[in-house]
Amino acid sequence: MAVNLLLGLQWGDEGKGKIVDVLTKDYNIIARFQGGPNAGHTLEFDGIKHVLHTIPSGIFHDKAINLVGNGVVIDPVIFKKELDNLNQFNLDYKSKLLISRKAHLILPTHRILDAASEAAKGKAKIGSTLKGIGPTYMDKTGRNGIRIGDLELSDWKTRYRALANKHEAMIDFYDAKIEYDLEELEAEFFEAVKVLKTLTFIDSEEYLHQAQREGKTILAEGAQGSLLDIDFGTYPFVTSSNTTAAGACTGLGIAPNKIKDVFGIFKAYTTRVGSGPFPTELFDNDGETMARVGNEFGATTGRPRRCGWLDLVALKYAVHVNGVTKLMMMKGDVLSGFKTLKVCTAYEYQGKKITHLPYNIEPENVTPIYTEMKGWSEDLTGMSDASELPKELNDYIAFLEKELETPITIVSVGPDRTQTIHR
Ligand code: IMP
Repeated sequence: MAVNLLLGLQWGDEGKGKIVDVLTKDYNIIARFQGGPNAGHTLEFDGIKHVLHTIPSGIFHDKAINLVGNGVVIDPVIFKKELDNLNQFNLDYKSKLLISRKAHLILPTHRILDAASEAAKGKAKIGSTLKGIGPTYMDKTGRNGIRIGDLELSDWKTRYRALANKHEAMIDFYDAKIEYDLEELEAEFFEAVKVLKTLTFIDSEEYLHQAQREGKTILAEGAQGSLLDIDFGTYPFVTSSNTTAAGACTGLGIAPNKIKDVFGIFKAYTTRVGSGPFPTELFDNDGETMARVGNEFGATTGRPRRCGWLDLVALKYAVHVNGVTKLMMMKGDVLSGFKTLKVCTAYEYQGKKITHLPYNIEPENVTPIYTEMKGWSEDLTGMSDASELPKELNDYIAFLEKELETPITIVSVGPDRTQTIHR
C-alpha cells in the first residue's frame, strides 16, 4: 500500500491542517515528518477552532494513529500544552499518539539561542518564530542533539547539563542582552518531560515499514511550506528542515518508491510571515483586504502576515520540486469581491522576462509580470458542490490547472471542515 504526502507549496500557512483533518478518514496513520512548534495547524469543526503545533492534524478522529516522526523537533513544554488542550476536549489521545525515538528535543536554551542569534542579526533577521528550531537542527546536524529515545536512558540529564552549559556560553558570546531565568525554564521543562514520558516512544521507521507491509494507509503531513525549505526555499529566509517531498523520506524513513500521491496545498493568493523576498507582495488596499478577509495572522506567533497575488512562477517551482500530483486550493472565498484578479506568470529579471525562480530574488531585481482575470462577487462560504462555483472562479481554476499542468481536486471555501468542495 502506498504512502501519500501532503505539503504546503508557498511560505507556509496554506491550510494544511484543515485538509489533513478532512482527509484523515481515508488513512490509518497520519505522520508529521519535519519542523516543530514553529508550525501552527488550524482545524475548525463543530464551531470550535483548534490549533496544533507538533501533534499531527489527524488527532481528532477516532481511529487514525498519529505519529510524530524522527524528522520533527519537539519542545516538551509546548507539547504538554497541546496535550492539556486535548484533555479539555476529553480526547483519549494516549492510544493513538506515537513518538519516534529519533526525534530531537528542543531545550530551553535552544529557544534562548534562537532569540540571541536573531537579535545579533539586526536588520538581517530571519523573522524566526523563536521556538528554538534553528539551534535544535544545528545540534542535530552537529551531532550534539538529545533525542526522545535518550529520555529512556539513565544518563540523559548529564548529557542535558553538558549541552545546556555549552549553550549558555554561546548565548554569552552573542552578547544580545537577553534576560532569562534558566532555573525557572528548566523546572517547567523537566515537568513537561515527565508528561511526555507517559506517551509511547517507538522505532517509528520500523513501525511504518510494518504498517506498509500490512497494507495500512499512511498520510505524511508536512509543516511550513516549500519556499521555506532549507535547500530549495528563499535562503537564508527559510526554516531549518526540508519541507519538500524528500523531507518525508528522511523524516519518516519511508522509501521514495513507496510514495504515490503528493498533495500540494496552496492559497488562492500568497502570504508570508517573517522576513525575506516576496515578489508579488502588495502594499495597497488589495493586500489589506486579503489580510482582513483572510484573517491573516500567524497561528503560532499572532504576527500579521504579508499578503500578495498568486505567484505562479514560485508555485510551478514548488510543484516541480515536490512532484505534486494533486493540487488543493485554499481560501478561494477570500478573493470574492475583487473586480480584477492578478496572477504572476513571469518575472522581469535583470531586464529579461523569465519564468523560473532565480537564485537571487531580491525585490530590486525581480518585477512580477501579471495576467489579469475577471473576479467574482458571489459569497462562496455556503457552497458545498462544485456545480455552485461561479464561472469566473472556474476560469481562475482552469487557468491555474493549465499553467501548473496539475488538477485542482479540492477548493476550500472557508475554515470549517464542511466548507470543502471536492472536484
Ligand atoms: P523558524 O523556523 O521559526 O526559525 O522561522 C524561520 C522562518 O520561517 C521565518 O520567516 C518564519 O516566519 C517562517 N516560519 C516558520 N514556521 C512557519 C509556519 O509554520 N508558517 C509560516 N511561516 C513559518
